[in-house]
Amino acid sequence: MEENILETYSRKNVSFKKGDGIWLYTDDGTKFLDCASGIAVNILGHCNEKLVNVLIEQAKNLWHTSNLFRVKNQEMLAKSLVDNTFADKVFFTNSGTEAIECAIKMARIYFSKLNQKRYEILSFDGCFHGRSMAAISTSNSRKMRDGFGPLIPGFKTIGFNDKSALNKNINNKTAAIIVEPIQGEGGIRVFPEETLKLIRHLCNKTGTLLIIDEVQCGVGRTGKLFAHEWYNIEPDIMAIAKGIGGGFPLGACLSSKNVSIGMVYGKHGSTYGGNPLACAVGCEVMKSVLEEGFLENVRNISGYFSQKILGLVSEFPAVFEEVRGSGLMLGLKTKIENITFTNEAFNQNLLLAPASDNVVRILPPLNISKHEVDIVIKLLRKTSKRI
Ligand SMILES: Cc1ncc(COP(=O)(O)O)c(C=O)c1O
Repeated sequence: MEENILETYSRKNVSFKKGDGIWLYTDDGTKFLDCASGIAVNILGHCNEKLVNVLIEQAKNLWHTSNLFRVKNQEMLAKSLVDNTFADKVFFTNSGTEAIECAIKMARIYFSKLNQKRYEILSFDGCFHGRSMAAISTSNSRKMRDGFGPLIPGFKTIGFNDKSALNKNINNKTAAIIVEPIQGEGGIRVFPEETLKLIRHLCNKTGTLLIIDEVQCGVGRTGKLFAHEWYNIEPDIMAIAKGIGGGFPLGACLSSKNVSIGMVYGKHGSTYGGNPLACAVGCEVMKSVLEEGFLENVRNISGYFSQKILGLVSEFPAVFEEVRGSGLMLGLKTKIENITFTNEAFNQNLLLAPASDNVVRILPPLNISKHEVDIVIKLLRKTSKRI
């Protein structure tokens, strides 16, 4: 039956029947330790009891009404996001790509409202903002772009962390700079604090908008609710998804009130965005992540994890080049092919996610225990030894 599915992915020949916390089980009961978390999605683990319960309760009452009517769960989730971030306004989506699409449209129409011809979006080498035409237009990856042209005009990619290119390329056509504080698909590349601060400074100086993409690094993954909080900067627009739904498809575009001025009636929409089911789960995710001690625990456990990983890297210098990342968004740059490593880890029943730049991503649920970290390290050691 696999032949009926478009071949846009290279899938492992395995499917899972059941998930429980950090574990996944195949049809025959084989157990896998999941450190991919559906690519940074299942932040509370598989089948988290609280999330399952709110989803079931909501499913018994109401699934979908559309945005023609008020949706109470949507309003509650928006309030929670607004109360805990820079934002005043939220638009809900079903994915990260859609949140990015909304962010780009919002930036462009903002300047159109101000009667300014500023439309260019600056992005960084190695970025990944999704697969829509606008999202691939932010990228300089030939693999993602080739064959889809003409792409959308008004996008420009500059070098990762290239401060002089930043200074040079912001001009009177620039509408926004879009940045992931930690590039996920790009290979867990962390922007230095001084660069992010410079980006914010240049945006302030030139009236350019700052779009921060926290689709992968947001919602607690780095030990703060959002990664940009580590740098004491605020975006004008922020895209989130993945973790906010804990596994249920949900994304959002957040912005300040001023920047949202162009997004008025008729300018944007979504049939499913902000539906009662997704937002019920989103509210519960926010509640869990904001619970006292949750983020502190992410910081503690990630400190422990990093320490163990650093030990592993020095134990196997022929396999690893370096450790990257922040919190529970970790990357191992390998000296061998990263896919060789993830395949061997798979043989040891450990699921990891490859990324560009020959990096292996470790993205466990945020409530992983110390004991579970020890098991991950044991499996990573076994994998490294075999390699
Ligand atoms: C930083 C970032 N932005 C946007 C996206 C696109 O999100 P989605 O796949 O939910 O459309 C991703 C997906 O991996 C991502 O990592």
